[in-house]
Amino acid sequence: MTVLDGRVIIVTGASSGIGKAAVKMFVRAGARVIASARRKEQLQELQKEIDNDDGSVVTVAGDVCDLALHESLVRTAVDNFGRLDGAFNNAGMLGVNAPIGEVAVADWQATLATNLTGAMLAARSQVPRMQESDGGSIVFTGSFVGYTAGFAGMSAYAASKAGLIGLSKVLAVECADAGIRVNTIISGGVDTPMGHESAPTPDAMAFVKNLHALGRIARPDEVAAAAKFLLSDDASFVTGTAMRVDGGVSVFKG
Ligand SMILES: NC(=O)c1ccc[n+]([C@@H]2O[C@H](COP(=O)([O-])OP(=O)(O)OC[C@H]3O[C@@H](n4cnc5c(N)ncnc54)[C@H](OP(=O)(O)O)[C@@H]3O)[C@@H](O)[C@H]2O)c1
Repeated sequence: MTVLDGRVIIVTGASSGIGKAAVKMFVRAGARVIASARRKEQLQELQKEIDNDDGSVVTVAGDVCDLALHESLVRTAVDNFGRLDGAFNNAGMLGVNAPIGEVAVADWQATLATNLTGAMLAARSQVPRMQESDGGSIVFTGSFVGYTAGFAGMSAYAASKAGLIGLSKVLAVECADAGIRVNTIISGGVDTPMGHESAPTPDAMAFVKNLHALGRIARPDEVAAAAKFLLSDDASFVTGTAMRVDGGVSVFKG
């Protein structure tokens, strides 16, 4: 018996980085996964890498800003596998990087729409389905940026990620009676395209690595492993938490 045996789980941001690592890990742990992102080719590539002969992974392309995508992901879970047990609402973007006086309202809104409203729309679609069965687990991907650290220029990203913590705390209370747990992972820096976009030069990457007590950023699977835990019964008493998976970035003052 594996920790996610038979669980049906939605993963957003599945075309790359943490989400892609999560899909592979969840399937190895026995889950059936509805994997989503905008880029169809990357999702197809993921299916090939998994060697999806038994149909454990179904992909649906779309934008997390669109409520219809989330409704379609839930429908796909139920139509293909008969249920929905969990969701790793992980898709995100760095978005606008500028001093506050230069942040265009449209850019601010685009960042919030993807990182925060996208997560809310996901939960809004997932919770009613989980309420109809015996509960479930919802996990968001937050960040040390906006929680333990502030970086100049990253106001929209930080606000969107901090917003996820409030969202998950409220949903944890609101959905507890239905047996639904809701948590946010506070990720440190991760070796993904976004991680490199945020620290594009060797000096910037060295600076970011040195912010972490462990002296490095995470592999994507190290964050996916925390999501796997939170989605499993091993975390049956964990809800409403902002769980740091951050290599000590929050405790280290190099
Ligand atoms: N890397 C880090 O250092 C770091 C640190 C803390 C937290 N995080 C968080 O971790 C999560 C995953 O990021 P990552 O590091 O794995 O980066 P990544 O490799 O760049 O992956 C980002 C994922 O989000 C998807 N995505 C972005 N905008 C989307 C949209 N509007 N609709 C649907 N999907 C969208 C992308 O897919 P498509 O482009 O195909 O749509 C991609 O699959 C994000 O929420 C990020 O904020 C990352």
